[in-house]
Amino acid sequence: MIIGDTMKFIEDMHLKNKTVILRCDYNVPIKNGKILDDSKIVKSLETIQYLLSKNCKIIILSHLGRVKSEEDKKNNTLQPVKYRLEELLETEVTFVVDVFNVPLETNNKIILLENTRCYDFPEKKESSNDLELAKGWAKLADVFIFDAFGSAHRAHASTAGISKYLPTGIGYLVKEELTNLEKVQKNPKKPFIVVMGGAKVDDKIPLIKSLLPSCNYLLLGGGIANSFLKAKEVNIGKSLATDDESILNELKLLLELYKEKLILPSDVCVKNKEEISYKGINTLSDDDSIFDIGTKTINKYSSLLSEAETVFMNGTMGLYEEKEFASGTLGIFETLTNVPVVIIGGGDTVGAVNKLGFEEKFILSSGGGASLEYIAKGKLEALEEIEKNEDEKISL
Ligand code: 3PG
Repeated sequence: MIIGDTMKFIEDMHLKNKTVILRCDYNVPIKNGKILDDSKIVKSLETIQYLLSKNCKIIILSHLGRVKSEEDKKNNTLQPVKYRLEELLETEVTFVVDVFNVPLETNNKIILLENTRCYDFPEKKESSNDLELAKGWAKLADVFIFDAFGSAHRAHASTAGISKYLPTGIGYLVKEELTNLEKVQKNPKKPFIVVMGGAKVDDKIPLIKSLLPSCNYLLLGGGIANSFLKAKEVNIGKSLATDDESILNELKLLLELYKEKLILPSDVCVKNKEEISYKGINTLSDDDSIFDIGTKTINKYSSLLSEAETVFMNGTMGLYEEKEFASGTLGIFETLTNVPVVIIGGGDTVGAVNKLGFEEKFILSSGGGASLEYIAKGKLEALEEIEKNEDEKISL
């Protein structure tokens, strides 16, 4: 993916007075109509402001959650995002439910369309990249700007489909994310250390495999570390870990292949009934459950990390939401504040950074799945489609 070559950047397009379809990722947490974290909305403002400076009319598209029933449509409305956008931009935003009935004559410069995934029920049109649906959106505008980094790994009608019809460019957020992630994906400055945690190992194996050859160390915590320990036949008691024999065999193989690089906790914080204690990894009893890495492990990981030039972290070291199990994640974050380049990817890890008060310290990726997929594979499906459609457009 080469921005400015195979993919146009917003600043290189003729946009003055044009009507623009802008795909954002406004898949934000909402509870009882209240947005709990508006960072994805805030990150979209630079592109919107740029389009406003070019006197564009902007039609914004986004998905929100998954829509599998009529009830989901009601529960996943983007209406709260309309209000937040109005506050942030200090301008009125028109909100439209029906894509095929958009009041383009409105004096408002910004129109927000309802959740694109409403077109996933009763028929799955958005997620299956239905070209009639994409065409319906494309007909509303002259140009398509894709700035939904969090959806860049999904070739859907509103991400890839529209680019079949309209001149397409990427916005500021996608450019910033790709530039940041390339610091890890392509020739990271060494020593390069990966810190990986979180609950499940199964879907992380491709990421682990892609990072192991280029990193100096891969430090493990959380449920992922438990699975590796189990693969080494360490007694982890009742701790969360995979039961899948083929995955355990794969982990065993990785441990043999990358003996020097894969680093596992030597001590942990466990809960046994109501009692919490620190134990060496070879002294666990059948009733222990691991909920955090231990003090010796925090010190070991911190000493390795203090030498690093680049760190990529995905997943937390323990159940950081509970104070007694937050020390591992907190200790690692504290050490990382002294590392020159730290990129944090994955929704849960970004949540931990925010909750524990480190949001200003690191580069945070707004795309959970997208950032991991880009690092693991070096490509993203929607962006690949956009590149492919660059030279040939279907006329409307
Ligand atoms: C995200 O929150 O990671 C993105 O918005 C993608 O959401 P999705 O997994 O529902 O496509």
